[in-house]
Parts: sequence; C-alpha cells; structure tokens
Amino acid sequence: MMNIATLTLNPTIDVAYSLDRFVHSDKLRTAEQKADPGGGGINVARVFVRLGGNARCVYMSGGSTGAALDALLDLHQIVREPVSIEGETRISATMFEQSSGHEYRIVPAGPVISEAEWHTCLDRLSSVECDYLVISGSLPRGIPADFYAQVASDAKQRGVRTVLDSSGDALKAAVAAGKLEMVKPNLKEFQQLIGEDISDPILIGKAAQDIARSGSARLIVVSLGERGGILASAEHVIECAAPKVASVSSVGAGDSCVAAMVHCLAAGKSNEEAFRYGMAAGGAALLTPGTDLARPADIRRLFEQYVSET
Ligand SMILES: Nc1ncnc2c1ncn2[C@@H]1O[C@H](COP(=O)(O)OP(=O)(O)OP(=O)(O)O)[C@@H](O)[C@H]1O
Ligand SMILES: [Mg+2]
Repeated sequence: MMNIATLTLNPTIDVAYSLDRFVHSDKLRTAEQKADPGGGGINVARVFVRLGGNARCVYMSGGSTGAALDALLDLHQIVREPVSIEGETRISATMFEQSSGHEYRIVPAGPVISEAEWHTCLDRLSSVECDYLVISGSLPRGIPADFYAQVASDAKQRGVRTVLDSSGDALKAAVAAGKLEMVKPNLKEFQQLIGEDISDPILIGKAAQDIARSGSARLIVVSLGERGGILASAEHVIECAAPKVASVSSVGAGDSCVAAMVHCLAAGKSNEEAFRYGMAAGGAALLTPGTDLARPADIRRLFEQYVSET
C-alpha cells in the first residue's frame, strides 16, 4: 500500500462563485457557492486519495477559518495533522464570469508564522510515517527560505523521499541542499531557478539534466502548460506533449500532475510511465471547473491516448 504525506504551510479554503456578469456597486447575486479545502499539498492529497492511495496532510491551521478548514478535510476523508497557529487561515476566491468566460482569482497572503510555530511543524514532520513526502506551495511569511531544504534533508535521513513543487528562494535553497527525489517547476519557476530565460526544449532538457547529474534531485519535471513537459534524470531526458483537451479551468493542473506522478512512482512504475501519467493528470485538471481537481476516469482516458499513440 502506498502511503504519502503532504505538507501545506499556507493552506486555504477555496471558495468558488459563478456569476453571469460582473458589475460594480450592485450586489452580485449567485445561487451557487462551493467551498473546498485547498493549498498545494492538500490538493495533491485529494487527487492521490481519488487514485486509491493513502494520504496524510500536515498543514497549518488557525482561527475560526482554520476550524472550518479542518472540518472540510474531514468531509473529504483526508487524514489530517494540523499544526495550530495564532493567525487566521486564509480564504481564496475563484470567480467565474459566465458572459465572458473569464476566471478571476483572489489569493490572500495568509497569516504570518512565528518561529515557535514552524519549529512545532518540523517536529511533527519528523514523526510522520510515509514513503513519500510531497511538499507543495509557497512559504508563508515568517518561515525562513531554507525550510523546505531542512524538511527534505530530515526526511532523507529517515528514508523518506521528498517531492517538491514550489518556487523562488524556497525552491532554490532546497535544490542547493540536494536531498530531493523529484522537483516539478513550471517554465517560469525553472527559469528563475537556473537564472536563464531559456524556453527551447532541448536547452531545458540539458539544464534539467545538469541538475539531476549534480545530485540535487533524482528527477526534474519541467511542466510547460499546453506544451506538455520535460522529464530529466541523470540517465535520460524525455519530452511529452500535453494531452489535447478543451480547457474549462486550469486551476489545479500542477497539483494533479504531481499527485499522479507520485502515485505511479510509489507503485514502482517506470519514470517514463509516471511522467506520462502526470502529464495526463495535468490535462485532466483542465476538464473540471473552478478549483476542481483531476478526475481518475479522465486521467486514465488521457493516459490511454498516449499509450495508443506510441
Ligand atoms: N492548456 C493545457 N492543455 C493541455 N494540458 C495542459 C494545459 N495546461 C496544463 N496542462 C497539463 O498540466 C501540466 C501542468 O501544467 P502547468 O505547466 O501549467 O503547471 P503549473 O504552472 O505548475 O500549474 P499550477 O498553476 O496548477 O501550479 C502540463 O505539463 C500539462 O501536462
Ligand atoms: Mg505549479
């Protein structure tokens, strides 16, 4: 059985609204209101559970919104391990304007975390039992940039493989520390990481393989949105086109991709199969509205298309 844990330092309650047309001053009335537990690691856990695995969520939770988030996770049957914080858990909003087809997203910065709180989180992580630890999302204010590097290095010592999907200095520090199983930057995050503005697939593959060969991470997946992605390990570089889908909402593509890849890797599948499954899952996330994540039936169908193409 596959057991993963995920880490979400800055989770959210994702609220989605759908309206005919935005106008100022007037009340914008909507019949539908939907709230989901969200944030990188929580999204990964939700997709992982849908695929039949076990996922435990370590996350920070505070205030009345934190209590609501805890309850939402229970509804989704996610095993949860909240670390209590003083600040209020954030609420993010996605608003869909039907007349234009545009989607608007409001994402608050979230609470500031104290040193005592992030130390508690490190302690908690040191006793979580799992095969893979998936870290996804940005660092909240107050947490030092090398936090993920520290978590990955502690995990490795305990024989736990760390998968990281983050950006900026947090990603840079973790790659520099070099204890990662896999990283999944998108193109912009990858360009920032290497400090070069490349977008040619051959060059991306070379730069990603350099990182793998340096020992920083065993696998590097650079996701390229509608252009698919590139997988690099010390031994090989593989390119994969994106599945052809009619996009409804691109929210959750990255998290769905990571969840599906880890699901395959944990099951002992090849790197290449895991990669294609991940690319299929990213595409599958586009088929669901708002903050909805990829559905297993869509993932399998899009994956089968790759198999039948080759
Ligand atoms: N327009 C698209 N058409 C088909 N597949 C897509 C599209 N956008 C994304 N995908 C799939 O999802 C994967 C991940 O998407 P992307 O590269 O946009 O990740 P991301 O920027 O990290 O996303 P997120 O905003 O969720 O963090 C892609 O590699 C691809 O397989
Ligand atoms: Mg992403």
